[in-house]
Amino acid sequence: MSNEVQEIFLKDYKKPSFTIESVNLTFELFEEETNVTNIMKFEKLDESADLVLDAQELELKEVVLDGEVLGSDRYTHDEETLTISNVPQEFTLEIRNRIYPQKNTELEGLYKSGDIFCTQCEPEGFRRITPYLDRPDVMSIFTTTVIADQKKYPILLANGNKVHCHESFNTRHGVTWHDPHPKPSYLFALVAGDLDFITDSFVTASGNDVELNIYVDKGNSDKADHAMKSLINAMKWDEEKYGREYDLDIYNIVAVDSFNMGAMENKGLNIFNSAYVLADADTATDANFMGIESVIAHEYFHNWTGNRITCRNWFQLTLKEGLTVFRDQCFSADMNSSEVQRIQDVKALRERQFVEDASPTAHPIQPKSYISMNNFYTATVYEKGAEVIRMLHTLLGEENYRKATDLYFETFDGQAVRTDDFLWAMKEYGEFDLEHFKLWYDQSGTPSLEVEENYADGKYTLTLTQNVPNKVDGSLQKAMYFPLKIALMDKTGAVAEEKMLIISKESESFMFEGFEEKPVLSINRDFSAPVIIKHQDVDFAFLMQHDTNSFTKYEAAQEFAISILFKLMEDIESDISEYLEAFGALLELDTDLSYKALLLELPSISTLMQKQDVVDFEPLYKAKDKLSYEVAKKYEAKLLKLYFQNHEPLNSALDSKSIAKRALKNRVLSLLSALESKEIAAVAKEQYEHSLTMTDRITALDVLESIDAELSEIAFNDFYNRYKNNTLVMNKYFALLAASPREGVLDRVMALQNDEVYDEKVPNLVRSLIGVFARNYKYFHAKDGYGYKFLSDKIIEIDKINPQMASALSGAFKIYPKMIESNKKLMKATLECIVSTQGISKNTFEIVSKILK
Ligand code: PHE
Ligand code: ZN
Repeated sequence: MSNEVQEIFLKDYKKPSFTIESVNLTFELFEEETNVTNIMKFEKLDESADLVLDAQELELKEVVLDGEVLGSDRYTHDEETLTISNVPQEFTLEIRNRIYPQKNTELEGLYKSGDIFCTQCEPEGFRRITPYLDRPDVMSIFTTTVIADQKKYPILLANGNKVHCHESFNTRHGVTWHDPHPKPSYLFALVAGDLDFITDSFVTASGNDVELNIYVDKGNSDKADHAMKSLINAMKWDEEKYGREYDLDIYNIVAVDSFNMGAMENKGLNIFNSAYVLADADTATDANFMGIESVIAHEYFHNWTGNRITCRNWFQLTLKEGLTVFRDQCFSADMNSSEVQRIQDVKALRERQFVEDASPTAHPIQPKSYISMNNFYTATVYEKGAEVIRMLHTLLGEENYRKATDLYFETFDGQAVRTDDFLWAMKEYGEFDLEHFKLWYDQSGTPSLEVEENYADGKYTLTLTQNVPNKVDGSLQKAMYFPLKIALMDKTGAVAEEKMLIISKESESFMFEGFEEKPVLSINRDFSAPVIIKHQDVDFAFLMQHDTNSFTKYEAAQEFAISILFKLMEDIESDISEYLEAFGALLELDTDLSYKALLLELPSISTLMQKQDVVDFEPLYKAKDKLSYEVAKKYEAKLLKLYFQNHEPLNSALDSKSIAKRALKNRVLSLLSALESKEIAAVAKEQYEHSLTMTDRITALDVLESIDAELSEIAFNDFYNRYKNNTLVMNKYFALLAASPREGVLDRVMALQNDEVYDEKVPNLVRSLIGVFARNYKYFHAKDGYGYKFLSDKIIEIDKINPQMASALSGAFKIYPKMIESNKKLMKATLECIVSTQGISKNTFEIVSKILK
């Protein structure tokens, strides 16, 4: 494999030699094969160029150029391309080819999810449908006709507006769709199936009536209301916040069970992983409802940031993804609690992106090269990309940011552009060092900021020293440019000074005057920059009580706990009374309940792991178990009281108050589980049996699993029997068991693979069982190496079915260079086994070989 792989570089980008004015596609869907007819109008831009079309796994039937059938001597067709030389300046090319969607397990191109025909073309799936210039800077107008059996596939969908229903012929029928907006092939979509749907409508600000449909598997239409409501809210929000209206007569969403990612923004025809559409109180958690709201909005927002204005090449991916994630985060903040949203976004960033950025697969938000583009739909491109847009928003301020985005939309509508073009628009309305800021697009790694404070004679000096880690290849990187929000408080917590500093140097000092005593610093408020703050001797207890910024207040609680956990790692009998006292104060805090639930959460194992130079999970778990136990023991009575104050088992409402109560009550129950007592097990059992929401049931199961094997088994059996016909719920079942803290997880995970509900071809199930196990650090990193062996065997097996899924699973090994020697040795052997496997995909090869380097 290694000598065949081709690395693609940003510096090699060349403009396309042809444009495609229009594409006319006809699909004849059958049970064995699908016939595709593709009629394209070309114009040649570069005199000397041959026409090189991307083509993968296609059975070519006929190539017709301007009405003339080409003999096989007129073109060459290999595994990746179809090349035709000596083509005229302008011409029409008609290609007929055959594909086999029923055999497509990669879930790229046209495939079947259960009984539904569907497509996934981003980034390079279209070339598995028909020969094409499959690159985002070739934009064309698509007309699509779908023909299939009328009974089996009554619903036939494609991009754009429905323009024609063909008279049925024998048992077959056909529909033609036309999308008037030029688009790249990655936004193409087609669906055929026997689907239920719900419908609604939206009138745009300029008065256009848009039909909204959500298509789901038969029998699921009662679970799509939340998705529809979210869509309407997103449409309204984009008009108000960005002045962006929808631009077709119809907006269709289809939910499918087999999907590699969350969802896809195909023009006018979004295709969704059903996990981000279907929900009701009995089967979905509050987090699921929020996830649906955000992903529905994300895909809708892409209509302007991604579709109307798209990417010139795949190196620009963060142009659409970073921006669209920032947009969906702001939307969710407006729909729910903005303080809770911000903390959750930062938590997610740290759990996934910070880990990636400190690993051998670290890359800038705009990568410089790739082997498989599929590997670059990363937390870095998405979440760090969103933080970079957020910094621009902070630097410009709300009003100028809006002017700048207006300019961006006005200037680049209908084009395929670069991150530089977006930054140009930002600079038109912002006072900042653009060239310096651009380093965020070119450098990898999380910068850290060391804080030093000096106080004398009423003067307070803050010295900040920035350190950007070396690149993966060991080369040095430069200090970055970013906004840093700070506040200085007096001893009562009153803010004396609140400021946004611009950090641009390796080291700089800022002076503040007029204090009677040393002020208390609150730094990186709102997490204004995605950096790591290193600050010694902080009075966390004070900040936990008095900080006026909800983010830094939360941060203080986390940092205090982290410092105590590291103390416990040194000496498990350390004095932790100060922390316990501060925690007690949090319990008394009168604040928003969902915010309070976050404040009471102890740091995750992943958070702690990131602070270790050499990672060893055992002492982390020991310290965390100890602290959890001490907290629960000291505050058992208070926690129980808080639990019962907020426990409303019969309330399944989704208003923010009800959600907040559940969040707090369940946080408290989880904290209490550290006692491993009969009493708490009984509370959890009661909650499992009598609560009406999935949120409550999931926490109860989790708690039972960690306290009492017997009760857990009874509850899990009940859960299984109740939900075995609902795959989405079964994902939760597998995930809970794979994340279990109880001995013997690996054996149980292995056995669960044989469960009749489990199916290795369905990505959600693989993620829930195998993916979740790989994040169960205690057992995945077991000293006997069986966790590693299990995962690497799975990767090799799944790689043959679905390379994208296999390479995603390989991510669990990213921590390799930081592990303690004994684990590292075990990991190395299994990783080498993966890369040397015959026929391993370039996706998996790219990730694993980078890890091994
Ligand atoms: N573009 C999709 C999104 O972020 C993600 C995606 C990428 C889905 C590639 C499928 C394949 O909304
Ligand atoms: Zn996206």
